[in-house]
Amino acid sequence: MFTHSTDQLHALLSELHEQSETQLLARARKQFPGSDAEFLSLARRYNDLAPRLRGKFLREHGLSSEDSDASQGTELSLSVSAQMGNFLRNMVLTHRPQRILELGSSYGVSTLYFADALNRLGNGTVVATELDPVKCTRINEHVSAMGLANQVELKAGDVFKTIAALDGVFDFVFIDIWASGYLDAFKNIERLLRPGSIVLADNMFTAEDAVKPFKHYVDNNPAFSSTTLDFESGVEFTVVL
Ligand SMILES: C[S@@+](CC[C@H](N)C(=O)[O-])C[C@H]1O[C@@H](n2cnc3c(N)ncnc32)[C@H](O)[C@@H]1O
Repeated sequence: MFTHSTDQLHALLSELHEQSETQLLARARKQFPGSDAEFLSLARRYNDLAPRLRGKFLREHGLSSEDSDASQGTELSLSVSAQMGNFLRNMVLTHRPQRILELGSSYGVSTLYFADALNRLGNGTVVATELDPVKCTRINEHVSAMGLANQVELKAGDVFKTIAALDGVFDFVFIDIWASGYLDAFKNIERLLRPGSIVLADNMFTAEDAVKPFKHYVDNNPAFSSTTLDFESGVEFTVVL
């Protein structure tokens, strides 16, 4: 069976990261009423900010902070960054999950990091979920092109319907749908977790307001130990006790 080379995967991921960043920059430029020079200066200030201040900064300047709801633009990739992708891959390599559930797969960037890690470990599956049919086609193309189809099970359609039909145990979950749905999604997956299962939720800083009910729930529920990592878009790291 064909398996990707590290170089091929790296090249595809670089292209997909660049595409996502270009889309986000174009969206921000469209939303920003000032001159190009002012926009450039704003972008530099944004890059210099600590991650936890970025969502607030964008909102203060009338720019969308990522991933809070569907009005963000369904066609956008909104993929994890390369740093976040490498973190996800390392988490899998060290936790060695048999089954991963990914909520919100978009073009399949985070899916590729998960599948690559599982392929290196020699077993395990990631169940990828995505509502948008065009994005589902892209996921399939990317996964097949890298020879990682054996590691990925794509479930097209609404994530809540997908979750309701799942059974068995998941050792690792990544939540990256619209942030207004985090709490409902989390409550729906609780029955699929075991002690020691890890749930990572992205965009805790960039979608700070929308994720508050979820954050409050995991912080105040004795069944979980949870902390927000001050990294990239803000990552909630929850372990089932
Ligand atoms: C931030 S993007 C995911 C990015 C992806 N994890 C990556 O790194 O490439 C969020 C995705 O979740 C999908 N999504 C949002 N709500 C959903 C739902 N209820 N069911 C299925 N997919 C959903 C969106 O279509 C979008 O593609």
